[in-house]
Amino acid sequence: MSSLSESTPASAPGKVILLGEHAVVYGQPAIAFPVSTLRTRVTIRDAAQLRVTSAIWDRTYQIADAAMHADPVYSVLSLTAEALGVPIPIRHYNIESDIPAASGLGSGAALSAALGRAVAAAAGLNLDPAVLNSVVFEVERLYHGTPSGIDNTVVVYEKPVYFVRGHPIQLLHVQAEYTFVVADTGIRAPTRESVADVRALMVTQPAATTRAVSAIGDLVARTRDALAVGDVTAVGRCMNLNHTLLQQLTVSSPELDRLMQVATDAGALGAKLSGGGRGGNMIALVNPETTSTIEMALRAAGAVHTFVTVLRAGMETAT
Ligand code: PMV
Repeated sequence: MSSLSESTPASAPGKVILLGEHAVVYGQPAIAFPVSTLRTRVTIRDAAQLRVTSAIWDRTYQIADAAMHADPVYSVLSLTAEALGVPIPIRHYNIESDIPAASGLGSGAALSAALGRAVAAAAGLNLDPAVLNSVVFEVERLYHGTPSGIDNTVVVYEKPVYFVRGHPIQLLHVQAEYTFVVADTGIRAPTRESVADVRALMVTQPAATTRAVSAIGDLVARTRDALAVGDVTAVGRCMNLNHTLLQQLTVSSPELDRLMQVATDAGALGAKLSGGGRGGNMIALVNPETTSTIEMALRAAGAVHTFVTVLRAGMETAT
C-alpha cells in the first residue's frame, strides 16, 4: 500500500467566531468563519505500529485498548475507521499545525478533522463531510464537555456559517468584504472552564444570565442582516455590544478588555473577544488601510501575535 506523499497532507483550517460564542451553547445563533491560511496538516507514513506524532508529543497506540477511548486523538482514529467500516489503518500519522492551542481558533476541531481525513486517505476511502462533522463533534465533547457544535461545523465545511445548535448548517451570505485583525493575548484558557462558569452563572443568576444570552442572540441576528447588505458600521457596533455582554457573562479578562480598547482607540470599527474567552484571541473589524496601524498598536499593548483575515462575498460557495 502506498502512503500519501509529504506534499499532499490531509488538512483542516482554523476558525474565528464573529459573534455569539457562549450564547450559542443555549440555543442562540452564532456567526463564525474559517481562517483558511491557518491550518493543521496530517501526513501519513507506512509504519509497523499505529503512531501519532506532533511537535510536542509522540504516541504509539495498541489497538483495542479500551483506556484509549477517552483520548481525543485515538478517538478520532477509531470513530473515523468505524464510520468507514474498516479497521484503523496502521500508519504513522504526523500532525503539524499553525493554529495555537486553547486560544479560540478551533485548534482541537482542526486537528480532529485533519486526522479524520488522513484516516480516510490511508484507507483509500472517501469520507462524507457530514460523517466527519459528527466524528469531530463527538471528539469535541471529550475536549469541551458540552460543545455547541459550531467549531466542528465551520472547520469541517470550511465555510462561513450562521449556526444554531442542533439545526442543519446554514451558510452565511455576505455582501462586500470585511477585514479583521485577530490578536492573541498569549494566555491559554480552556474553553471547558469558561463554558462551565457560564453554566454556573445560569444557576446562581438565572434572570440576568438568560437576558444577556438572549441579547447576544439578537445582536447575532442583527449582524447577519448587516452583513447581508454590507453595513460595516452596524457590524462593528454589534461586535462592541457583544463584548460588553460577554463581560457580563464573566468570560472576558483584563488583557482582552485592554486589547479591545486599544484596537478601538486605534480606529477599529468594532472589537470583541472571540471564542471561549478569559484569554486567547480578540477580533477587531478594521478599514483595510488601517490594518498595520492597528496591528502595531495591539502588539505594543502586549498582543503576542496578530494576523489579518478577511470575510468576503462568495466564501460560502467557494470549494
Ligand atoms: O473553542 P472556542 O474557544 O473557540 O469556543 C467555542 C465557542 C463556545 O461558544 C464558547 C463553546 C461552544 O461549544 O460553542
